[in-house]
Amino acid sequence: MIEKKITICYEEFASVEEMLLQDQKLVAAALEAQKGSYSPYSRFQVGAALLLEDGTVIMGANQENIAYPSGLCAERVAMFAAGANYPDVAMDTLVIAGSDHGVLCEAPASPCGACRQVMAEYQKKQKKPLKVILVGSKCIRKFACVDDLLPLIFDSLKV
Ligand code: THU
Repeated sequence: MIEKKITICYEEFASVEEMLLQDQKLVAAALEAQKGSYSPYSRFQVGAALLLEDGTVIMGANQENIAYPSGLCAERVAMFAAGANYPDVAMDTLVIAGSDHGVLCEAPASPCGACRQVMAEYQKKQKKPLKVILVGSKCIRKFACVDDLLPLIFDSLKV
């Protein structure tokens, strides 16, 4: 038996002003996207902004339903909209921001496992890294690719 460790890498910013201008604009877009949240059950408003490599920005917000599993997370709303409407344009950067009862959470938003798996699939499809930015009021984390958010990704073609 060999014990192994996995290390993940990401950048952490104390405020949005420390970020690249393009990323600052995407963070603002993710915050704006929260306005589209339909979340009467959780009161948790999540916004996503997805930059495509042609410069298009797709917005997403979580959509809930009284039949709970029928809802969808903000980031999947954005990724599926991009996949459906821009199937041949690679996804460059996905930004996610969550607010609880209208107040931006201190800790950065953290996507659920299902969303991470969807990110992984689109990243694999496009053969280019999908960058991910998770926004909180106290810190912002930037991941250079999905692998760092989902080590040991389910992928039948990987050993
Ligand atoms: N949610 C998202 O939209 N994205 C995340 O990364 C985490 C959770 C949504 C799902 C549900 O509508 C609400 O937040 C509470 O879990």
